[in-house]
Amino acid sequence: MMVDDKVLREEWLVACPSTEVGEKPVQIMLMGERVVIFRTSEGVRAFKDLCIHRGAALSLGEVKHDCLVCPYHAWEFDANGDCVSIPQLPKGRAIPKKAKAIKYGCVEKYGYIWVNLAGNEPELFPYPEFEAEGYRNIIWGPQEVEAKPPRIIENFLDVGHLAVVHMGALGVSSHREIADYDVHWEDDRIYSDEIPIYQPDPDGTGQAKTVYYTYEILRPFTVRFTKKDKETDQYFSILLSIRPVDENKSIAYGILSYSYQTENSDEEIIAYQNAIFAQDKPVVENQKPEELPLDLQIELSLVCDRVSIAYRQYLKKLGVQFGTV
Ligand code: FES
Ligand code: CO
Repeated sequence: MMVDDKVLREEWLVACPSTEVGEKPVQIMLMGERVVIFRTSEGVRAFKDLCIHRGAALSLGEVKHDCLVCPYHAWEFDANGDCVSIPQLPKGRAIPKKAKAIKYGCVEKYGYIWVNLAGNEPELFPYPEFEAEGYRNIIWGPQEVEAKPPRIIENFLDVGHLAVVHMGALGVSSHREIADYDVHWEDDRIYSDEIPIYQPDPDGTGQAKTVYYTYEILRPFTVRFTKKDKETDQYFSILLSIRPVDENKSIAYGILSYSYQTENSDEEIIAYQNAIFAQDKPVVENQKPEELPLDLQIELSLVCDRVSIAYRQYLKKLGVQFGTV
């Protein structure tokens, strides 16, 4: 079923890592809708994955001369979605004006392809680590989750669970108290103060110490945190972005960014994050209601939930309906 949410349709939503779209068109499910993504010489394009002629999935076709060719009768749609060739038409007969594909906004950045279902192309949020020199960036995901995006995002922004769900990895049971902190709303930035977290081995050297987490809400389904070692000023960031597949299913993607060099291979780092994510997954998949309550009278928040509260206020302010209650 199509997810009808005006606000989210105006957003850039993560579709897939860049590496998933090669020469062939690819189908992805986004908000319950089939989308075809393909490459032209001028960049990636996304259309509704539906041919206006007989409803075939364009993603089963091929890309030829920068056009997407329908697999059924070989109508060709150019990068703007205009039909430029209908092989069945007798010579000299004009292509019907209505012969078009429905074009969405599409951009490739930060190692991912992003789609805007309203067909707009607003500026994408900043993630400077991906483009700055000296950073190591690793693409993480996909991780399928049977949950709605706001619950997954809020779990990522939840500081109190670190020493519980991830005990022994991201926290220890003797240090569960969370110091008071504030969340700041600044123009288009929402971010937390630095929150001290005592971790058994925050940087892989085997030494326990206090590191400092800051959380930032970038977009409804895209957030990040930064974990900083104040002794060295080194930090590690994760950008998390969720693809709403349909009403019940989501796919989590991320970028793991290091400001410093680590000895671990990409595979090891990804395996570690997968293990952390596997600890969160059963919790998130079983939360009730599945929707995130935006009314702060529902559920009981603590002071340490300030980031989550800000996230709920932010979704409410934007008017995000999907995945909220
Ligand atoms: Fe696409 Fe006929 S269904 S060309
Ligand atoms: Co977690």
